Formats: sequence, C-alpha cells, structure tokens
Amino acid sequence: MRRKLVAGNWKMNGRAADLVELHKINEVAYHATVDVAICPPATLISEAHAAAPSVWIAGQDCHAAVSGAYTGWLSAEMLRDVGASMVIVGHSERRTGARETNEDVRGKAQAGLDAGLLPIVCVGESEDDRSTGRHVDHVLSQLEGSLPSGFDERTIVAYEPIWAVGTGQIATPADVEEMHAAIRSVVGEQVRILYGGSVKGENAADLFATANVDGALVGGASLTAAQFIPIIEAAMRA
Ligand code: PGA
Repeated sequence: MRRKLVAGNWKMNGRAADLVELHKINEVAYHATVDVAICPPATLISEAHAAAPSVWIAGQDCHAAVSGAYTGWLSAEMLRDVGASMVIVGHSERRTGARETNEDVRGKAQAGLDAGLLPIVCVGESEDDRSTGRHVDHVLSQLEGSLPSGFDERTIVAYEPIWAVGTGQIATPADVEEMHAAIRSVVGEQVRILYGGSVKGENAADLFATANVDGALVGGASLTAAQFIPIIEAAMRA
C-alpha cells in the first residue's frame, strides 16, 4: 500500500519568521494519516527540522558529488546532516534555469539515495510537447534518463507539466491519469507518483481521486498553513 505524500516546495521563499507557518502545518501533520513534507530554502532546513518533527524536511536540489571544490553548491550529505530526509531533483525550474540534463538529475538522485535521502525526481513536458502529442514519450524518456539505476520504493516521482507550474492551469484528471499510468508502467507498484502544478485546496480532492496519484508536490499553495492544510486534509479523505 502506497502512503500518500503531500509535499510543499517553498522555492526561493521563506525566512525565519515564516517558520510560524511550519508550526501550524506540523500540528496537522502530527495527526495525519498521510506523509507531509516541506522543502524550505536550504537556509532554513536546520531550524525547520527542529521546529516541525512531524513534517519530513526536504532539500530543493543537491550536487552529485559528496564534497569538493563546488562553490555555492550543497551536497546531499550536507542536507542530511542538518535534518533533511528527502531532496527534490530535476525540478523544471532547474532543468530550465540551470540547464540540468537527465544525466545530471540521475547523478543527483543517486547522491540523495547514497546519503540516505529519498529523492523526488521531477519530470514534465512543455506545452509544445503536449500540443504536438509527444508528451508521454517525452516524459518517459526523461524518466528513464533521470531515475537512479536499481531504484526502489525509496525513490519518488513527481509529474509536473511545465505549463501547469505556477500558472493556475492544472492538468485535467484525464491528462493526469494518462501520464501517471504511463509512469507506473516504468516504475512499478512500489514507487509513489506525485502530481505537481497549480495544486490548491479547491482542486486537490479531484486530483487525489485519480488513479495512480499518490500525492502532490505543491508550490505556491504551500507557503501558508491556511492554503496547505486543506490539501493535506483532502489527501487524508481520499
Ligand atoms: P505550483 O508549483 O504549485 O506553484 O504550480 C508546483 C511546483 O513547482 O512544484
């Protein structure tokens, strides 16, 4: 049985004062029948881990190497050292903004596993790929190139269509069902598959009722407890 996971990605948002939101999320997570994760900026991981013992704390990216001359980067082991238990790899904002390739993402996912973190491997197609009918092929080839070799249930996949991230335009249940079934055929029954892209309290119930949706990766709506808690509650009702 795959336990649902509701993960909030704060991206480049969040200062010490925002930990008050995490305190409120932690109160709900303490009683929750689903896993709850928050990916704060790296500057807050240590404090977030101390402030929210019922919330899984995750990094937003890591380097593939354990240590070395990589100014500005962070290794998976460093994230683990300050309290992270998961790490997002291959988010579309990094694939685009930092030109990360599938091979880069696979190295990061492997580094996460080696450090004892659960990697959340993100994949997703552009609007162009979808309008030309190449979306499934594109996502499956991204997935096959990005998954660590010999992956198992510790790896989590997040399907995030680029056109749905931060746009308010969520994929339809039929679109999500089609893609999650295709991803399932690659990853097997043990791996959790999250959907991400404009998930809100209002659309979460329909999303969680869709086959092969094991949770959500939430951006904007994870920044406040008031918006994030209804998504956790919808996952618990599903
Ligand atoms: P969004 O972001 O919920 O703001 O669309 C999702 C994500 O980037 O993970």
